[in-house]
Amino acid sequence: MTATASFKRQVDQSPRLDHTAAGRSSPSGQPEPTGGTDRASWRDRPAGQQPDWPDRDQLAAVTAELAGMPPLVFAGECDLLTERLAAVTRGEAFLLQGGDCAETFAGATAASVRAKLQTLLQMAVVLTYGASVPVVKIGRMAGQFAKPRSRATEVRDRIELPAYRGDAVNGLDFSAAARQPDPGRLLRAYHCSAVTLNLCRAFTTGGYADLHQVHAWNQDFVADSPAGQRYERLAGEIDRALSFMRACGADPQELRSVELYSSHEALLLDYEDALTRIDSRTGRAYDTSAHFLWIGERTRAADGAHVEFARTIGNPIGVKIGPGTTPADLLGLIGTLNPDREPGRLTLITRMGADRIREVLPPLVRAVAADCAPVAWVCDPMHGNTYEAPNGYKTRHFDDVLGELHGFFEVHRDLGTHPGGIHIEFTGDNVTECVGGSHDLAAGDLHQRYETACDPRLNRSQALDLAFTVADSYRDPAA
Ligand code: PEP
Ligand code: CO
Repeated sequence: MTATASFKRQVDQSPRLDHTAAGRSSPSGQPEPTGGTDRASWRDRPAGQQPDWPDRDQLAAVTAELAGMPPLVFAGECDLLTERLAAVTRGEAFLLQGGDCAETFAGATAASVRAKLQTLLQMAVVLTYGASVPVVKIGRMAGQFAKPRSRATEVRDRIELPAYRGDAVNGLDFSAAARQPDPGRLLRAYHCSAVTLNLCRAFTTGGYADLHQVHAWNQDFVADSPAGQRYERLAGEIDRALSFMRACGADPQELRSVELYSSHEALLLDYEDALTRIDSRTGRAYDTSAHFLWIGERTRAADGAHVEFARTIGNPIGVKIGPGTTPADLLGLIGTLNPDREPGRLTLITRMGADRIREVLPPLVRAVAADCAPVAWVCDPMHGNTYEAPNGYKTRHFDDVLGELHGFFEVHRDLGTHPGGIHIEFTGDNVTECVGGSHDLAAGDLHQRYETACDPRLNRSQALDLAFTVADSYRDPAA
């Protein structure tokens, strides 16, 4: 999934440190520093959003099996991503992170993964070329199988059942059998992650992501889409530039593959813990389920289990930051998650809502800047802008998504900080889940292809529209 350079750095992965034998505190009784070996400390903290597993013995058997499975990613790859995100922190690169709200087991197919990758690659090209900035690419892919929920149950026609918590926990069907949490699903989540990651690695290093294919990614899409046509023109310019370089005798290897990383919300701590391994180079723990893990808005409590778990792993970490966050909350999180102030270790993903971002983001940015804390600031313009359409569909308006992005750029430009990237939910298919965009999708169109298992996602054309707008705003603050 990453460039060959990262594989050269790949390290021997020692087996998981057995947390039952490792004890819950260090010999001194003091918390271990970041990446320390106190691997079970999170178990003493309150953990929100965990499933009510009916069979704890089955859960223990499943996590024991997962603990014996090969890592999905290597520590050296995670470190390389930290370096890339350090460049974002310094204002030298831009992060594009995106994919499904909730991946499904049924969606782990070559066609679906390819469509998402195509979209991500097209967006990345638009941003790299349009904004002339290196783009760090992270998929919300190969592990995004668990969801936090606002309500523990769902009621339909006066029948109340456990809420759907992602394919790693239970089924989306509204039946008692499907909604029963099943630990066996954690194993399927692992295998589907492995399959997806394998496809991503093959697509991105096996020639498909070669920049000379810049037109091919657009082929099934260009005819009926204004965004696709605009992309086609840009691809033509890139083609001419590549021909010019070839004519000059330059054919750099960097253009032949793409460095892509995986990420998901580190929500199910039994799963994440079971996939955590000690890196034999450094003795540091890494969660090998993905390169980048984030903590959600609902589970970022300073004294909670999710923050404690993230503190003990060496992966680069993200935290979702909603409008209720105070400067003190933020400085507390920074102190806990990045006490050594390592650039690239911590990414703050703000999701404030289009109408609030200009009011709530500045005090947070000022507090972090005054503390000189190195963080990457990233905008999630989706989760603060979700609403229910009159016909009952959960949706987002494309104009609100752009509105929050404009607010994000404005605030950072005003304060002299770097607007470091975007975190979005999209799919490669032509779904009808978000309203607006260049096709001006209306609420009445939503029923046509509303396929998400959780939140409404941008379709391919909306995702490309968004990339063009972001490229314009990044390059030209007045745009
Ligand atoms: C998500 O990213 O799907 C999500 C649930 O986000 P948040 O934690 O910001 O609500
Ligand atoms: Co979501």
